Amino acid sequence: MTNSEAPISPVISGVSNGRPKKLHGRAFYESIGSPRHIVAPMVDQSEFAWRMLTRSFLPPDQRTSVLAYTPMLHARLFVDSPRYRTSHFEAVKGGTEQLQDPANRDNSVDASSNLPLFLDGNPSIDRPLFVQFCANDPEALLGAARKVAPYCDAVDLNLGCPQGIARKGHYGAFLQEEPELIYKLIRTLHENLDVPVTAKIRLLDTPEASLQYARTVLSAGASILTVHGRRREQKGHMTGIADWKMLRYLRENLPKETVLFANGNVLEHGDVERCLEATGFDGVMSAEGLLSNPALFSPPPPLAETTLDQPATAAATEASTESAATSVDQDYYWHTMDPRREYWTSSRKGSRRGGWRIDAVMRRYLDILHVYCLGKASPPERAPLFIPGDPVERLVEDPTTAATADDDASTDGPARKKRRTNGSGDTAASTTPARDKDTNKEIFASPNFVAVQAHLFHLLRHAVAKHTDIRDALARTRKGDMAGYERILSMLEKRIGQALVAGEDKAFSEEWEADDPELDDATEILDDPDSSAAAVRRCKRPWWVVQPILRPMPAEALAKGAIQLKKKVKAELDHAVKAEAATAKVQVVAAAASA
Ligand SMILES: Cc1cc2nc3c(=O)[nH]c(=O)nc-3n(C[C@H](O)[C@H](O)[C@H](O)COP(=O)(O)O)c2cc1C
Repeated sequence: MTNSEAPISPVISGVSNGRPKKLHGRAFYESIGSPRHIVAPMVDQSEFAWRMLTRSFLPPDQRTSVLAYTPMLHARLFVDSPRYRTSHFEAVKGGTEQLQDPANRDNSVDASSNLPLFLDGNPSIDRPLFVQFCANDPEALLGAARKVAPYCDAVDLNLGCPQGIARKGHYGAFLQEEPELIYKLIRTLHENLDVPVTAKIRLLDTPEASLQYARTVLSAGASILTVHGRRREQKGHMTGIADWKMLRYLRENLPKETVLFANGNVLEHGDVERCLEATGFDGVMSAEGLLSNPALFSPPPPLAETTLDQPATAAATEASTESAATSVDQDYYWHTMDPRREYWTSSRKGSRRGGWRIDAVMRRYLDILHVYCLGKASPPERAPLFIPGDPVERLVEDPTTAATADDDASTDGPARKKRRTNGSGDTAASTTPARDKDTNKEIFASPNFVAVQAHLFHLLRHAVAKHTDIRDALARTRKGDMAGYERILSMLEKRIGQALVAGEDKAFSEEWEADDPELDDATEILDDPDSSAAAVRRCKRPWWVVQPILRPMPAEALAKGAIQLKKKVKAELDHAVKAEAATAKVQVVAAAASA
């Protein structure tokens, strides 16, 4: 991957009254390339490295087709606390203190501070980017927005967060009942900020109320509106499915010029087009789906038709790597260029199941951390990922790695201390010592390192459920423990190789694909609000392949006792059931009498 991609067109067009005139609405959307795929704002999870990982699955010239949002930042804290700022937004190397010169947005050095541009919003590698804030004070929001405006394409207001912390802090979806405040927050940015303002909302109870709400936000000056197709109450076990029909209603009742992003129910690649078609929206935003599969927005790689039935002898491997190197853009696969090793496809004839291997995704992710976040010249050298036909000696467990992991798992002390006394027998680990002495400690406070463990637990969820020693080793890693992550990767790669040699993919096929109907593109997929069974079946992949995490539907959670209805709701339901039974009884009696 290079830094050579051309920066996207600026959002500023012309000059008016001595100030640059900014674009609005659809004109703005088109100026950033009309992106249809959007990485959702996610606290501690949509940081630079994950955004870059998502884009890395697309060819370089298509990477700007993915628009990404930063995690939500707290406007008041961002204004007041330099520490909060530097630990949450890394636009330049060395702090975000003095940065305020929009004229320098495309240079590699920020002229106002003379510091090199770094990660967040870097025009070469992290655009388009919207920075999201939560706020309830227009002045604080404007102050925070002005600090990030030179390094992003728009500033977004979070009106969707339904969590308790948002209730306490009086922001997110808990502003829904205050349209005047919402109007003022958005209007202040619309009138005073150099880049456009956008907003993300949830649905209200009825289509009419939701439409009125959307109109308020848009009339205040929001250039783009994202609608999460769920209500504020739909969280945790009550999440359920998003209401695409209500999104369609909004589309049909808002002016065509309004730019809308749909959010909710996107589990796999095919759902993106399905959502666009069902809602008529301009773009699709995904959150949890991307945490499980950062390649969700990308089609399968071109060589995916090659199946694991074809032996990968050493010679064939070399030849395939060579031909891949000459036939595909090296940037596409970054340093690994053999999709047969990275992408799994079911060997069952006619199967539509496939997906990136989690060891391949984890490698890419770690490489981004090594190269972009830690500034290494290159990622650690590793052997190609294993596929059947490769020499199996590679799969023998390395006692040093296992011992280190066991040590990690069997002590309560910090993993890092233990490793120092152990030394290291693992090649990857030994090339990337934990927290190099010459690496500035501050860097590990960066959002990119804070997020690693949670990302890996999400990505490897099905693997760690099966291989609990990997789970334990991961649980004991600390921020910036690159050697620990490399060791976990090495364990994972071996287990996946062993599974392939043992024919686990065939066993998977027998268990999950035996009764599959012949699916084609015309097959309709229905989102069932009462049961997640069909979605589980549709999305199921072997444990070493990326796949979404599916929650039970509220009815299923209720049946399992995972949630309980509030007394009042339960009493209402009981009452309704009794009334229905009484009506039915009356009808039976009446029918019998008239017979
Ligand atoms: C880990 C996580 C963090 C999130 N943080 C934010 C946030 O900072 N701002 C926001 O507007 N929504 C946030 N959300 C909500 C998502 O942006 C999105 O609206 C929601 O997950 C529904 O989309 P999905 O069905 O694709 O997951 C978060 C969601 C997750 C899973």
